[in-house]
Amino acid sequence: MATMESLIVTVNRIQRACTVLGDHGGDSNLPTLWEALPSVVVVGGQSSGKSSVLESIVGRDFLPRGSGIVTRRPLVLQLHKTERGLQEYGEFLHLPKKKFTDFFVNLTLIDLPGLTKVAVGIPPAFLLRSLFLVEGQPESIVQDIESMVRSYVEKPNCIILAITPANQDIATSDAMKLSREVDPTGERTFGVLTKLDLMDKGTNAIDVLEGRAYPLQHPWVGIVNRSQADIKKNVDMIASRRMEREFFASSPDYGHLASKMGSEYLAKVLSKHLESVIRARLPGITSLINKSIEELEAELSHLGRSVAIDAGAQLYTILELCRAFDRIFKEHLDGGRPGGDR
Ligand code: GDP
Ligand code: NA
Ligand code: MG
Repeated sequence: MATMESLIVTVNRIQRACTVLGDHGGDSNLPTLWEALPSVVVVGGQSSGKSSVLESIVGRDFLPRGSGIVTRRPLVLQLHKTERGLQEYGEFLHLPKKKFTDFFVNLTLIDLPGLTKVAVGIPPAFLLRSLFLVEGQPESIVQDIESMVRSYVEKPNCIILAITPANQDIATSDAMKLSREVDPTGERTFGVLTKLDLMDKGTNAIDVLEGRAYPLQHPWVGIVNRSQADIKKNVDMIASRRMEREFFASSPDYGHLASKMGSEYLAKVLSKHLESVIRARLPGITSLINKSIEELEAELSHLGRSVAIDAGAQLYTILELCRAFDRIFKEHLDGGRPGGDR
């Protein structure tokens, strides 16, 4: 039976195939198709906690993170569930397959027991990007990075996680400035307030978290990630999430908001949103996919069977995925009748 989940999986596969195809895409519709599919982008100033937030959403340790460590390029990550649904693994789309294997082995994700249990509420495949803004760099580099970040977040398909550290001035937060600019209505921005544990004694962020100070369409989510000291002590994700839950539950300031705070809650909210975006966009995505099917068929017949180059194989893969999407979508529609699965 077709489900939303199988559609999300197919959406992710198409995104992945389009990325792998890269420059071979030529004049085709594929960049448009890529842009029609939703993705999640994390933006914020240097050391605001972007990598930490991404990791705790996913429930995995996998990103370069910590003071002095700066993500130098966008990292596109996909989570995959194996067919049996037993193990998930991450993959950086910009890295060749070989490096992805290294990354996998280095971090021995499979060997860490119990980790799959942490990733509740996350769709089986989930596209995330970590983007960064830097301070204290030559003006030209800052502008290059800003325009690169902007090129991602201005796309209407982009769901923005705007990361602001609670121990800095929120009014001047890079993330807030950028997201206000590209998404003035706030319909695709999620405000994330990190480092709540590092606020000055006697101050709190209740006005922000309750939506009075900086109202957003989606409620703010407060986060407590691992500190640099925790990282040095190798505090793992499970312990980190437990500490975060305890922080909110026992806090005199935030106790009443505890059920709507923290990384696990953020992951749930995001996956729900992602699902609703895909559902709302199904008609548009489907017509684009049908266009792509025609176009890919034409392009493939033009290339001819003898051209067994990578590009041909990749185009074929995308064509197959588009057909799969179309098929699942039709089943999904059938399933929409009373008694259907949705
Ligand atoms: P990025 O540069 O935005 O990706 O930020 P990182 O995720 O690398 O975090 C920068 C530093 O801040 C690291 O040392 C983290 O341990 C620390 N950090 C991030 N979030 C929190 C938090 O909520 N509380 C505390 N105490 N430290 C945090
Ligand atoms: Na950092
Ligand atoms: Mg980072």
